[in-house]
Amino acid sequence: MSKKRILIFASGCGSNAEAIHEATVNGTVNGTVVGVICDHADAQVLGRAARWGVPATVLELKSFENKDAFNEAILKAAESYKPDLICLAGYMRICGENLIHAFPNKILNIHPALLPSFRGLHAQRQAVEAGVKVAGCTVHFVGTGLDDGPIITQVAVPVYDDDTEETLSDRILQQEHPAYVRAVTAFCADQLKIEGHHVSGMHGRK
Ligand code: GAR
Repeated sequence: MSKKRILIFASGCGSNAEAIHEATVNGTVNGTVVGVICDHADAQVLGRAARWGVPATVLELKSFENKDAFNEAILKAAESYKPDLICLAGYMRICGENLIHAFPNKILNIHPALLPSFRGLHAQRQAVEAGVKVAGCTVHFVGTGLDDGPIITQVAVPVYDDDTEETLSDRILQQEHPAYVRAVTAFCADQLKIEGHHVSGMHGRK
């Protein structure tokens, strides 16, 4: 099976992007990171891409006349990398519908909550404020709604009495990296099957 071309979208630190890249280099994932699209010129992930020797495209919303023009530019840039898979890895924007329609069932996202709870920004803060005792992360296919789309895998972590947004975020992030790598591994092995809201291929009985 030929290697999948993986395009990463990121806005910030890029630790999830790093985990995915590392998994392509060490052979866990049958794929290659072919590019990074980033919406912040000063994002740390750009330094990572440079270190990997992977091209990056920076597109900032403020440089465009409006959201539609930005979304068009994002789509053009994405298409130029000819990706088999797009991984949103700390990409803090809602993807344009044009992108979602151009890459059906080919865009994955990681969200730092057990969806469908705590969609949107500051999911870990939402969890602390809600007083839940279990939090976690979700890898899912991207749909047209906010943090919706068929769920691929989830990992739960405990919430302790003295947790803050920061301590909980750290605990979740530690689980995000292996969870995202497992989902990308399964995708790149053509193992995932989507039927409606349901994704199978990763959570069979052992
Ligand atoms: C991660 O916790 C990721 O789940 C979250 O941002 C962080 C990025 O970290 N994403 C979202 O909240 C998306 N709504 P990273 O840049 O180190 O991968």
